[in-house]
Amino acid sequence: MSDWINIVEVGPRDGLQSEPYTIPTSIKIELIDRLGQAGLKTIETTSFVSDRAIPQLSDAEAVYDQLNRREGVIYPALVPNERGYERARSAGIDHIAIFTAASEAFNQHNINCSIEESMARFAPVVSRAREDGVAVRGYVSTVMGCPYQGEVPLSDVVRVAEALFEAGCHEVSLGDTIGVGTARQAQSVIRAVAQSIPIEQLAIHFHDTYGQALANIFACLELGIETVDSSVAGLGGCPYARGATGNVATEDVVYMLHGMGLKTGIDLYDLAQTGRWIAAELGRPHSRAGQAILKRQR
Ligand code: HMG
Ligand code: MG
Repeated sequence: MSDWINIVEVGPRDGLQSEPYTIPTSIKIELIDRLGQAGLKTIETTSFVSDRAIPQLSDAEAVYDQLNRREGVIYPALVPNERGYERARSAGIDHIAIFTAASEAFNQHNINCSIEESMARFAPVVSRAREDGVAVRGYVSTVMGCPYQGEVPLSDVVRVAEALFEAGCHEVSLGDTIGVGTARQAQSVIRAVAQSIPIEQLAIHFHDTYGQALANIFACLELGIETVDSSVAGLGGCPYARGATGNVATEDVVYMLHGMGLKTGIDLYDLAQTGRWIAAELGRPHSRAGQAILKRQR
């Protein structure tokens, strides 16, 4: 097991994309800045998707325009197609993420196309990114279950992850979009995908609907996973995955990792304060670990 774990903070994107109200741009900027201050090195910032699909992130250009970019921090954004790529490049971005799913039904709801069509849509994005020296992360959603089709065969997860990797993604993030998986299933997914993709180029992205995310993360760390996606205060969800709750809270993950003697470069107290602040801004509960950390002396 590596003693350094990379945390990919997805709160500003995954966390805010399904909030019922649009969050003012100034709050988004402050959130991203506080996360950078707390030591997060990768902060997924927003999405260049259709305003109609995700109105909560329709201020993507304004967010990048006003962002205080910290040295050593990367600020990727989701890009669904060439139009999104052009918007992202105009905003000065050199790290993007493309996203598809292992389930046909989920893709139809989320991005209005089949898995194959999504890969065809991404091909020109990835090839332009390669020419421009832009790093591309790939997401596979619904790796442990789909809100529309139920079970998702492992072979489909492997096929889609391989397609993203072979297309040129430097990292593939495996998403339990609706948070239904359990630890042994999570290990089966990692074992299967790691047969063709080096484990250091895989990430895990678990939502916490059934409270299984930490156990699943632990199970995957034991197999050598080094990159974990999480969201401050456990914010998040996908508007196309009804009933799914937020991502696993970054505070909970970092507390577990530090307790296991693993390093993240994150100041847990600063992070917990940021979690309390954004949870209060959104009228959401803070994470359990976040609350407990703030009760203790620094
Ligand atoms: P479509 O309707 O098939 O495509 O949408 P279209 O090309 O016909 O475009 C429809 C409208 O969107 C048009 O506007 C386009 O101009 C506009 P209209 O003429 O009707 O007014 N449009 C755009 N506008 C701005 N930027 C763009 C863009 N592209 C088209 N880039 C599309 C297809 C993919 C665009 C749409 O379905 C979409 O934007 N979906 C986004 C869905 C999304 O963001 N979901 C959440 C992220 S995924 C997730 O959360 C899972 C993850 O966290 C991992 C996990 O948990 O598993 C990553
Ligand atoms: Mg997600």
